[in-house]
Amino acid sequence: MELDKLKEKVQKTLNISVTHIEPLPYISSSLRYKLTSEDELFMLKLPDDNVPAPPSQLKKLIRYLFEKKLPIIFQERFERRTQERRVSLEATVLQNWEQYNIDAARVRVTDKRTMILLDYIMGQDYKDLIEEGRLTKEQFDSLIENISYIRYVAKREENLMLLHNDLHIGNFMFDQESRKSRAIDPGMILNPSLNFKEIDAYLNLFFCYSLVSNLFFDSNRTRYIREEILNAFIKTLERPTIQTMISLNNPVSPLYLRYQKTGKKPDPHKNFNLYNTFNKQNFKIVQEALQKQYK
Ligand SMILES: Nc1ncnc2c1ncn2[C@@H]1O[C@H](COP(=O)(O)OP(=O)(O)OP(=O)(O)O)[C@@H](O)[C@H]1O
Ligand SMILES: [Mg+2]
Repeated sequence: MELDKLKEKVQKTLNISVTHIEPLPYISSSLRYKLTSEDELFMLKLPDDNVPAPPSQLKKLIRYLFEKKLPIIFQERFERRTQERRVSLEATVLQNWEQYNIDAARVRVTDKRTMILLDYIMGQDYKDLIEEGRLTKEQFDSLIENISYIRYVAKREENLMLLHNDLHIGNFMFDQESRKSRAIDPGMILNPSLNFKEIDAYLNLFFCYSLVSNLFFDSNRTRYIREEILNAFIKTLERPTIQTMISLNNPVSPLYLRYQKTGKKPDPHKNFNLYNTFNKQNFKIVQEALQKQYK
């Protein structure tokens, strides 16, 4: 969409005056803009309609796994209807967090369908901080506290809509003004047939893999600090949670297993190994860290 058109749409849909709008680098499935309105800075987030649809075989597999209730996070991100649900989900979780004083991105305005206007956070996300090799103790501790408080509140209220449903290291930012970690981007649609305990455990596992997998970090340079975060995170988990995580942890992606069973050539393309996280070496690191804490 052209910037002028977008500006007009934002003014109309969200009923705010826009003085300036500037696209930010494209990262994944959403478009982001730095937006100024009456001297205040905002982050405008909207789904990208141009995300290509997955091959039909992959679609079939995902549906199959979904029905079999396998412990996978189900992400149907390719249809407009789904995109709207993702926006609505993100807005809902962020607004819930605000009610419980959880440090997170604040929603300023949203139509819960096509766009979310967030406070602009002055700072960097934790993936970048780690890669730049300058994660301070203050930042480290604040991240662990942020995540464990989210889980504490969600568990206490037994409310899935309070969990971080896309728990990975890139979805936390260190806010230089409040000097605290703030959660962002809870817009992942999960398999609704999984219960709270399973989803919580699976999300935790995903966080662990985001620290060790090469999808998020492609060199070993920062491995030491990432494993320190991994261990500190696992220390905050309760024994039954760790036990569930140990039993759900699997060295091979369910998608990949299914491919092997059907006798079809397992595609080495990383998309078929869900997030490319569940390879043997990463599995071992995560499983050993969990077992060490469980003892
Ligand atoms: N409110 C904000 N203020 C400043 N920067 C932000 C804000 N929200 C996000 N960012 C920056 O933009 C990056 C991507 O944002 P976000 O995680 O919300 O979207 P995404 O990962 O592209 O989308 P999705 O995960 O939904 O596909 C973040 O890692 C962070 O660096
Ligand atoms: Mg994100």
